[in-house]
Parts: sequence; C-alpha cells; structure tokens
Amino acid sequence: MGCGLASWSAMGARAVFLIGFMASGKSSVGRELARRLHWDFVDLDARIEARERQTVPEIFRDHGEPGFRTAETAALLELTQSLEQDSVVALGGGAFAQGRNRELLRSWPSVFLEAPVDELWQRSSEDKEIRPLRKDREQFTRLYAERLPFYRQATLVVETSGKDPASIGAEIEAALQLSGVKAGSPSSAPRVLKQEDHGEVG
Ligand code: S3P
Repeated sequence: MGCGLASWSAMGARAVFLIGFMASGKSSVGRELARRLHWDFVDLDARIEARERQTVPEIFRDHGEPGFRTAETAALLELTQSLEQDSVVALGGGAFAQGRNRELLRSWPSVFLEAPVDELWQRSSEDKEIRPLRKDREQFTRLYAERLPFYRQATLVVETSGKDPASIGAEIEAALQLSGVKAGSPSSAPRVLKQEDHGEVG
C-alpha cells in the first residue's frame, strides 16, 4: 500500500480519511482535526446526498444497499479526483469495507477510530432513524466483526473509548505528524498496515 507522506500532495491537495463503524465519531473528530489543521472538512455521506438529491435513508429505501454502495463509490471517486483544498474526510461506516473504495484510497492516509461495539451501539441509539443498517444488536455486532479486519487496514488505528473529539483530533495530528507535513518537513512516515485482502462485506 503506497501511502507515504510524500504522496499526500500528489493529487494537488492533501487529505486524511477517517473511517470506522457507525457512531464512532468520524464527523465530530473530523471537524475537530480540520479545525486544528485549518483544512476543509468533508462528509462523504453529505456529498452522496447532494449528488443523489436524496437522503441516505431514502437511497436505501428506493435503491437498497447496492444502490447506496454504487452512489458511495461514485461520490468517493469524484472527491478523490477533484480535491483542491487540503481536507479531512469522514467516510460512512461501510465505505472502507468495500474493496473498490479501499483501492481508490490506496495513496491516501486513513485513520480508523476504534471503539468497543457495545459503546457504539449505545451511542448510535440517539439517531437510529438515519442509519438504515442499524437494526438489532446482534446484527450490529455481527456487522462490526465482519468489518473490523478491513478497518484495521487503515494507516493508523486510534482507540477512542473515553476520549473526547478534541483529544482524539490532537492525537491524530501528532500521530500522523500533520504539523510537520504542513511545514514541509516530515521526519518519518506513518505506520502503514499491509493491505492484502480485497474482499468486501456489506
Ligand atoms: C453506513 C453508515 C452510515 C451511512 C450509511 C451506511 C454503514 O454512515 O454511510 O447509512 O454501512 O455502516 P455513518 O457511519 O456516519 O453512520
């Protein structure tokens, strides 16, 4: 997986992609990290909704999960090809479980926000109506377990349990040495896990 620091700006702008299961804090941490870096914040689900002119639940209702995945990959492709501003991008919970999306992100750093599945289940109860794939607890736990091996292929894994978005944002900035990259003097590459498996789960 070619994801060294030098490649971050190869496409014209730098970007970091936040990945993780539903309710793992991708948006709140993403906003915080973007604020710290003075980068843009992009929410891929919001991009999908704008492109499709439908909300995520409406896309699932009218086109099923396959229709949503097609829209998701199209939005991700468009985003990676058109990034002009340095950006922190929050992906939806299933995006990195799709081989074609991981392939698209091969040259960008990704950060997995890890949290215990019980905590994610609790946290996601507040806005369950906007998450078509949050059904019962057993299904939620199973889906998490299926996706975990893919999430763990991220450039960096951050344990988020018990931490607030501000401290997680600071941790990511330090771990990826984003300040150093911004100043143009990266001293070492982030940890890169090997990407061997191109399988997918829903
Ligand atoms: C999904 C998670 C959602 C959204 C869609 C599918 C998933 O995003 O992309 O409902 O497959 O886990 P969040 O992770 O922001 O809830």
